[in-house]
Amino acid sequence: MSTYLITGANRGLGLEHTKQALAAGERVIATCRQPELATELILLSEQYARLSIEQLDLAKGESIASLVKRLHNTPIDFLFNIAGMFGGSWGNTADVQRQSLLNMDYDLWHEIMQANVYGHFELIAGLLSNVEQSTAKTILMMSSDLGSITNNTLGMAHAYRASKAALNMLTKGLSVELATKNITVVALAPGWVKTDLGGEGGHWEVDDSVRHQREVIVTLTPADNGKFIDLQGKAVSW
Ligand SMILES: NC(=O)c1ccc[n+]([C@@H]2O[C@H](COP(=O)([O-])OP(=O)(O)OC[C@H]3O[C@@H](n4cnc5c(N)ncnc54)[C@H](OP(=O)(O)O)[C@@H]3O)[C@@H](O)[C@H]2O)c1
Repeated sequence: MSTYLITGANRGLGLEHTKQALAAGERVIATCRQPELATELILLSEQYARLSIEQLDLAKGESIASLVKRLHNTPIDFLFNIAGMFGGSWGNTADVQRQSLLNMDYDLWHEIMQANVYGHFELIAGLLSNVEQSTAKTILMMSSDLGSITNNTLGMAHAYRASKAALNMLTKGLSVELATKNITVVALAPGWVKTDLGGEGGHWEVDDSVRHQREVIVTLTPADNGKFIDLQGKAVSW
């Protein structure tokens, strides 16, 4: 049995990863900002003793530090950084407009960077020894096709795209630094998925996207360290 720590576990891709990991017999530490309101996680915890729910707000250093302290000496096989924000939905024109050259909401951009980039880095730093103590020693970054520089042929959504490109850079940099500790760091693009963030126009149902992702995740080895891959395991151009 592997232990997954999943951020953003109360809805969308994080919730579905939590469900599928539990169904596969894994142990899950599911983090979310407001555990008392996480009704689906609470119901799951009644069904699975292998699920624990922990408070985590990636925009708050004290919340990250508190989680790190509570998890002291708990091995984490898969540290799965899923939480993230767009500032609305990629499928909503008005939301996309808030990230345009002439109409950028700079406060929003700051929030996006905090949630999508800085918070994950701080969490990884805090939980590094937990990953080192585990068997699988894997750190997963939920990236996006929108974070690919090569594949950016549309422009738009500059704040979100920049945050995911930054996350990709961290993936690569950490993969190089942590290789000596036998830790595998991988960036994943889940496809365009029908969640609050993805919107109704997404190409993938949440359960299908996560099922494909899991098939890839469980076969990862140190040879995959530093890769950026899609939900079917194919390389995505940086
Ligand atoms: N859906 C897609 O098409 C798509 C495509 C590519 C990449 N992704 C990535 O996949 C990940 C999950 O997205 P999703 O589609 O599942 O979106 P979602 O349904 O909107 O869920 C986002 C999750 O992130 C959490 N979150 C946001 N800011 C946070 C913060 N500061 N601290 C802690 N948690 C925070 C949310 O918590 P609250 O409920 O408390 O707000 C929620 O659990 C994101 O990183 C996203 O960029 C999604």
